[in-house]
Amino acid sequence: MTPEDVTKAVDAISKRTDVRPTVGVILGSGLGPLAEDVVDPIAVDYADIPGFPTLTVAGHAGRLLLGTIAGVSVALMQGRKHYYEKGDARAMNLPLATLKALGCETLLLSNASGALAQNLGPGDIAVIGDHINYVGVSPLIGEDYFDDKFVDMAEAYDPALRAILIQAAEKLGFALPEAVYTYFAGPQFETPAEIRAVAALGGDLVGMSTVPEAIFARALGMRAAALSVVTNKAAGMSETALSHAQTQENAKLGTDRMRRLVHAFLEALPG
Ligand code: HPA
Repeated sequence: MTPEDVTKAVDAISKRTDVRPTVGVILGSGLGPLAEDVVDPIAVDYADIPGFPTLTVAGHAGRLLLGTIAGVSVALMQGRKHYYEKGDARAMNLPLATLKALGCETLLLSNASGALAQNLGPGDIAVIGDHINYVGVSPLIGEDYFDDKFVDMAEAYDPALRAILIQAAEKLGFALPEAVYTYFAGPQFETPAEIRAVAALGGDLVGMSTVPEAIFARALGMRAAALSVVTNKAAGMSETALSHAQTQENAKLGTDRMRRLVHAFLEALPG
């Protein structure tokens, strides 16, 4: 990816709207309906933005929505590219660099996950405090956009943004536990033995997204936060077989709180 690639994508978006977003949001399972909350939305299909991905996963739309929520200018990515689709950890690099170039200094990521933590079950929401990159891949491998790829990951999930989210949830009347998200490539779900390994390593959640994006956001110097809606107990921890249909169905259990939380978060963001 070159700076020119990013400029082309930015131009394709800017010529369609005057909105200059300051917060980028990646809508994962459970947060899709947030799209309905955008005031005066302009939708740009990924197909009309050079370098944006073609999506293949059911339930992910493939559009960028620009407008405002709670008075904050936002850019919502309706749908993301996952590593498991083509084995490409760099698939989201250009969209993220484009959001940054458009003016998004803040990035809110979201996903669905399976929970190991006792206090988390279907429909619960957690804020990601840290992650374990169990896959080991990085969006920075083979990426020549940066001179310095040796990115500090100590505070990949911005402590100030996490605090705002936790406070906002408290005001709304629900707990928002911090969790360690463990990244698996997928698309198959984990085995019970893998989940026991994650428990020993200190993971609270497992999922198949977000980590490459958090790494790349860090490399771009964006402030990132991530919310996870739990759709199931992790493999081997319940009687129910895991499926994508279950993920999509149970993500809905957290949607209402996710929406209210994102509103409260945007309202509370310092100017
Ligand atoms: N594992 C991985 N990804 C997931 C899960 C899970 O149990 N649930 C939702 N996304």
